[in-house]
Amino acid sequence: MLNRWEDYIQHRFLDATPRQEALMSVITSPRSTGPYVALADGYLTVSIDGTDTSFHYVWLRDNCWCSECKVAQSTERRLFTATISDDIAATEAEYADSQGLRVEWNDGHRSAYSPQWLRTHDYSHAARAGRRHSPTLWDASLTHVPRFEHGDVVGTTEGQLAYLDALRDYGVAVVSNTPSIDGEVERFAETLGHVRETAFERIHNVRHDPAGYNVAHTPLELKPHTDLPSYHWPPSIQLLHFLVNEADGGESTVTDGWAILADLRRDDPQAFDILTRVPVRWQLFSDDEDTGATAPLIQLDTDGQVQTFRYSNQLAQPLDVPFDDVQRFYDAYRTLGRMIDSDRYKLVFKTRSGDLLTVHGHRVMHGRLTYDPASGARHLQDVYMEFDDMMARRRVLAGTHKPVAAQDVS
Ligand SMILES: [Fe+2]
Ligand SMILES: [Zn+2]
Repeated sequence: MLNRWEDYIQHRFLDATPRQEALMSVITSPRSTGPYVALADGYLTVSIDGTDTSFHYVWLRDNCWCSECKVAQSTERRLFTATISDDIAATEAEYADSQGLRVEWNDGHRSAYSPQWLRTHDYSHAARAGRRHSPTLWDASLTHVPRFEHGDVVGTTEGQLAYLDALRDYGVAVVSNTPSIDGEVERFAETLGHVRETAFERIHNVRHDPAGYNVAHTPLELKPHTDLPSYHWPPSIQLLHFLVNEADGGESTVTDGWAILADLRRDDPQAFDILTRVPVRWQLFSDDEDTGATAPLIQLDTDGQVQTFRYSNQLAQPLDVPFDDVQRFYDAYRTLGRMIDSDRYKLVFKTRSGDLLTVHGHRVMHGRLTYDPASGARHLQDVYMEFDDMMARRRVLAGTHKPVAAQDVS
């Protein structure tokens, strides 16, 4: 077996650097499993930074980083996972803190994994919990929404990162002094990512319109809501640009739906559960267009955390569910609605002309108080985007989007 290792080393490190020579001495040491690695049935355990961490053989083999197993230019997987044999196992393995993990497999293949790569992908419970990002939940005591200058967000990396961090953590941000020019909200969106097109208009105009297709076109109060629950994947970012806001009243509201759901889950877990389970039909239409979807108010991710929250009192259609669910749904739905409309959670503030409000559309509800359309002009334009694209933008700007290499394949 060691001869095969040596062949491999000779082949791999023909022009060995001092670092690679050091590596060779570790790999070719006579110890097949030293104190740092223990081979078990189906997995190995390696001591990294003083902590024992286990990795399944099939997982390690699947993530081999050599040029046979990866597309070198892109790091995409070249190895077809289904070809890995059912009884894949390590025949030898060694670990050194400075060198990483070297494994020889019973299919004759050899793999190497750097310590940094192993730490990055450690899937122990503690490591996974440490990697999970927790949003900053807020209520009306937040007093003001994170605010940024338009010039900083569109013109500087730090300004754009700070704005994206606020969206990640709070799910809401306001950009001040956005030029009050028709279509400016779309130009702003395109400096960050991609517009998500939906039915109706690419850029939605919200102003008083007695013939408008939506309650937003009236001067009525708009209770906190998320837009377009009538898509199975509603837009996950909404940008609302106040070109002019000189009417009396019409204060904006923002409400952290995830904060309310955390409280509801703690105080009334049965109500929370019903709202994850009972589907609602949602619809928004005009003379020429229609949107419709059926989904519960709350959808959870695989960790049981709220992923998608939809709430739009005005767009919910007659409930169409088994008889026994109707009363319990309405009890939970009204409990939630009273929380949503309470002063405890709702932040009320007057947006100024030039303010551009951004909300995470699966988390933060927006609304407005009633206003007097005769008292002054009020016109806003909004477009949608996707939270995924915003966070991708954040990773690219921060220089963190490319994977850590498990080994040097140059
Ligand atoms: Fe809306
Ligand atoms: Zn490989």
